[in-house]
Amino acid sequence: MKKTLMLSLCAVLASPAFAATDPVSARQDIFKQFKKDAAAMGKMVKSDTINKDEFSKLAAHLDEVAQQPWQHFPAGTASGQAARKTEAKAEIWSKPAEWTKAVDSFKAETGKLKQVAANGDAASIKNQFAAVQKTCKSCHDAFRKD
Ligand code: HEC
Repeated sequence: MKKTLMLSLCAVLASPAFAATDPVSARQDIFKQFKKDAAAMGKMVKSDTINKDEFSKLAAHLDEVAQQPWQHFPAGTASGQAARKTEAKAEIWSKPAEWTKAVDSFKAETGKLKQVAANGDAASIKNQFAAVQKTCKSCHDAFRKD
């Protein structure tokens, strides 16, 4: 009986679902998806070969994942505090209004990109993609360690 219990406990601890409850790896996994989407869109923008269907799918996916990392920033998980390696600066928690503003403007720009990708021409798609990238950079400048 005891052995069975231990074995099932081990199975739970080893499962990916359990690993994903670590907030640092949860948010980092989502940021990795940001990077993947942005890189694929950036490639099309740079080479002037925007495939609207593909771009729209990427923009919609980015807007979806753009909603997600922010719930995984509990207090005590700044760089130097968390058990795992993280690049989150303490300013996330000491300047909550600025942090919320950075999150909100990013989400506003990804929402716009999704709209423009579905309805706009190449020039407006490019402009809006640049606007999204600006919000990535300004948040990283303020809230992520280099
Ligand atoms: C509102 C703030 C904010 C915005 C907007 C933002 N990021 Fe980040 N990003 C962070 C923070 C904070 C971290 C550090 C997370 C950690 O290490 O715990 C991070 C980490 C990352 C990482 C590293 C993930 C890893 O493997 O550890 C990548 C890649 C990344 N962001 C890409 C992007 C891209 C691309 C965009 C825009 C499409 C973006 N981010 C927008 C705050 C932001």
